[in-house]
Amino acid sequence: MKEALQNNPPGEWIPEIPDECIRLHCGYPAPALVPDEEVKAAVNRLLEEEHDLPLHYIGSPKIIKLKEQVLKRLKERGISVTEKEFLITSGACQAIDLIARILLDEESIVAIESPTYMEALEIFQNYTKHLISIPVDKHGLQTDVLEEILEEREQKGLALPRFLYTIPSFQNPTGTTMTGERRQHVLELANRYNFLVVEDDAYGELSFNKSFPTLKAMDQNSRVLHVGSLSKIVAPGMRIGWIAGASEIIHACAWFKKDLNHPFAQAVMAVYLANTDFNNKLVAMRDTYRSKCNVLTSALEQYFPAASWYVPEGGYFVWMKIPGADTSELLTHALAEGVSFIPGQYFFKEQATGTEYLRLSFSYADEQEITEGIRRLGKVAQAYL
Ligand SMILES: Cc1ncc(COP(=O)(O)O)c(C=O)c1O
Repeated sequence: MKEALQNNPPGEWIPEIPDECIRLHCGYPAPALVPDEEVKAAVNRLLEEEHDLPLHYIGSPKIIKLKEQVLKRLKERGISVTEKEFLITSGACQAIDLIARILLDEESIVAIESPTYMEALEIFQNYTKHLISIPVDKHGLQTDVLEEILEEREQKGLALPRFLYTIPSFQNPTGTTMTGERRQHVLELANRYNFLVVEDDAYGELSFNKSFPTLKAMDQNSRVLHVGSLSKIVAPGMRIGWIAGASEIIHACAWFKKDLNHPFAQAVMAVYLANTDFNNKLVAMRDTYRSKCNVLTSALEQYFPAASWYVPEGGYFVWMKIPGADTSELLTHALAEGVSFIPGQYFFKEQATGTEYLRLSFSYADEQEITEGIRRLGKVAQAYL
């Protein structure tokens, strides 16, 4: 524990962003898609029906309803789990933390994507220093590299990972999606080398065109812990996430979760979902993000002829490489010009690897701001182009 406190402070990557800046750094949903009026109606309806009940520790019986609603939705996506294999959490982050807490000790090995979601990286580093980075390319995690590393470790008698943490669909930060073959390969490796797979599916429902089955839907051997969230498709401040996986692990997670729960938010979400045609909402969301993504990539073509990026098939992010750039330095100039992004280094365990990269988010800013933001960024990046 003391050792973890020597790590970089959490959230250190969040730069001081002046109010007037165009926000291409943040992984927040589009403000127009956050259902504030519907949530207000759900709060009113809940309190009118149940008075003080939802505000007690034990909360409203509607929190059971939320479980049923999420389980039904998972089933529609090919994930059939029982109630004992399912736990609602305070966002995907609590799910990741609980999994790390029950599965890891200081000697444990975790395989992570490189680059990966920086908060997951911070969480794992609270528990162990032994993270193995597996590179990501335009088709997601490079499973052949994972296989080589596992083979070599086994031959040398070194410990194998306790689990692999992966974001197979519309990854944060690269926006890439793992192919079907690679998904199959991950599961084969998990069986052969006896590790678990933590599948973070925070963006899984936000496909622009086609989507692949989740690893959990393909999992025949209860190896996958599927982590989900409503943050990116409803509202992050509601803090609703979940884990679907083997009952012993869910039982242990529930044990440690104790009262770190948000019964009020869960009941409000249940009422909101019961009164919403969510499939319809998702169609509108996907259209909005697809269009914003197109605006961003068109602006990049115009203003960044010498850079390269992956074109995402869903999610919130575009990952760009500016050869020869130091993107942390670039950020200082970009903020002065009124546009933000996240320097790539913060998504890597070995931070020096990421200095030529940056993450742009098309989710939060509107289309006009996106084009203007990329124009401004192109202007300050001229020195490198
Ligand atoms: C890959 C990934 N997982 C999880 C989260 C956080 O989800 P939650 O708000 O449910 O904790 C994020 C948010 O940025 C994310 O990008």
